[in-house]
Amino acid sequence: MLTLTNPEISDIQCAADAIAMGRLIAFPTETVYGLGGDADNADALAKIFSTKGRPTDHPLIVHIAGHDVLDRFSLRNDEVVQKLCQLFWPGPLTLILPKRAQVLNAVTGGQSTVGLRCPAHPIALDLLRTFKNGLGGIAAPSANRFGHISPSCAQHVITEFGLENTAIMYLLDGGACEVGVESTILDLSSSTPLILRPGSVTKNALETVLNCTIADKALANSPRVSGNLRQHYAPHTPCFMLPKNELLPHYQQCSAKGLRMGVLRIDADNASNEEFNLKTVVIDLADNELAYARGLYAALHALDNGGLDQILIEQPPQNWMAINDRLKRACATLKS
Ligand code: TXA
Ligand code: MG
Repeated sequence: MLTLTNPEISDIQCAADAIAMGRLIAFPTETVYGLGGDADNADALAKIFSTKGRPTDHPLIVHIAGHDVLDRFSLRNDEVVQKLCQLFWPGPLTLILPKRAQVLNAVTGGQSTVGLRCPAHPIALDLLRTFKNGLGGIAAPSANRFGHISPSCAQHVITEFGLENTAIMYLLDGGACEVGVESTILDLSSSTPLILRPGSVTKNALETVLNCTIADKALANSPRVSGNLRQHYAPHTPCFMLPKNELLPHYQQCSAKGLRMGVLRIDADNASNEEFNLKTVVIDLADNELAYARGLYAALHALDNGGLDQILIEQPPQNWMAINDRLKRACATLKS
């Protein structure tokens, strides 16, 4: 894996050529880093699954240069789709739409739908506009091993896969991701729209545009959306989410047993570190939904790499939907 920092257009051309040759590259989007391959190349798709260790029935999002390319993959392109694309693309919204016959089964996990998104990061857009002259699709899951924390900067990708990884030809380093959590997934393939994964494009915003009520992921616990598995976006260290008033008592119990603790707090004016011992790693994230999301995965990566026995997470406000969704999964254990 060769890291290209602040890639110029010639670097992006190399990356686009690599994808056209069936190789994989890691690249920044505004949400998280993606592990990209040619959506029309079954061998490249197989490499994505094997590199991530992801079950092959979990479909991949196809990234495209814009709404103009949507027809290549989707059977549906009516006014609703056009309006959503016009308002939210490029941006953190993935649309699940009925797929065209030629979309490979490896992309869709054998389903009749395809997930499409046009990302807002300038490097991702340049890459998509260069690859196959802007007409291709880059299938890209988050650039992390299956079930683990998503990468919000290039270093997370390096830590996850190692520079010596040969399956990934290039890593385009475009700095830290602006949004920090994965795109909102809106399923438009059945009679009523359904949010399969909350993200920074909110249910409210979508309801206003669509002028209808959107069901939340009652999700039917579909295993088809890998983010749906209980344990996902998860650190290796056991994580527990607690209301603010329970955090300190739990901390004291654990540190009395000699456990090395990590604490993820929401920044408060009167926050002090006096109650924590010197072995404790404390990270404060802003009391602001967007800023918290932007810092979340870097905080979880840092805590997970801190050689800790437990991570305690202060419960954020209930209406921070995407953040609560990811934290609940980070805290779920396979046993529970
Ligand atoms: O923000 C994002 O969406 C990032 C960046 C790289 O674009 N990508 C991402 O991909 O989060 P991934 O593979 O880690 O998560 C995509 C989710 C998976 O849970 C997958 O199952 C679901 O989207 N998905 C993809 N296609 C689908 C489909 N046709 N039907 C239902 N779910 C689908
Ligand atoms: Mg992922």
